[in-house]
Amino acid sequence: MERKRIVVAVSGASGAPLAVACMKQLQKHTDYEIHLVISRGGEETIRHETDLTLEEFKSLAHVSYDNKNIGASIASGTYETEGMIVVPCSMKTVAGICSGYSDNLLLRAADVTVKERRKLILVARETPLSPIHLRNMEYLSRLQNVVILPPVISYYSKPKSLEDINHHIAGKILDAAGIKIEGFKRWE
Ligand SMILES: Cc1cc2nc3c(=O)[nH]c(=O)nc-3n(C[C@H](O)[C@H](O)[C@H](O)COP(=O)(O)O)c2cc1C
Repeated sequence: MERKRIVVAVSGASGAPLAVACMKQLQKHTDYEIHLVISRGGEETIRHETDLTLEEFKSLAHVSYDNKNIGASIASGTYETEGMIVVPCSMKTVAGICSGYSDNLLLRAADVTVKERRKLILVARETPLSPIHLRNMEYLSRLQNVVILPPVISYYSKPKSLEDINHHIAGKILDAAGIKIEGFKRWE
C-alpha cells in the first residue's frame, strides 16, 4: 500500500514540543508518511524548547529535507501530498506565505500547498498580535484550503500537565487535517 504523504514544517515560533506531539501521533497512522522541513528559526526553538538533538528530532519523520534545498520534491506541485502543517508557525513565516515570498523550502512547500489547493494548517503563534500579524492571518484564513490554528489551551479538557496540553492541541491540529488521535477529549 502506498502511504499518504503529509508535510510537517517547523518554524521559529515558540512551540517546538507541539511538532513532537504531532509527529508521535502521526507515527501511529501507518498509512501516513511524514515529510519534515525545519527552518533555521525552528532549529533554534527545538534546541531551546525540547530535550532532543536535531538528529533525534528529525528521526521522528520518515523523510527530512534541508530548508535550503529549494529543488527538493516537496517544492513541486507534481509531488503529491495530502497537505501541510506548519507547527509552530512564526509571524515571519506567516508573512512569507501571505506574500508568496518563497525564499526557502518551507515557504516554497507552503506556497505549493496553497496553489495546489491542498490543506494548509498554520499553528500560528505570537502574543500579543500586531495589526500586521492579524492582517496577514486574516488574508490567509480567507483562502478556503488554509486553516489558522493558534495553539490555544482548552481548559475544559482539564489538563494536568504540559504533556496533556500538547496532546490536546496536537489533537486539534490533526483533526483539522482529518486525522483522528487516541485519547482526544471532545466536548460532550
Ligand atoms: C526561543 C524563541 C522563541 C520565539 N518565539 C516566537 C514566536 O512565538 N512567534 C514568532 O513569530 N517568532 C518567534 N521567535 C522569532 C522567530 O524565530 C524569528 O522571527 C525567525 O526569524 C523566524 O524565522 P522562520 O519563520 O524562518 O523560522 C522566537 C525566537 C526564539 C529564539
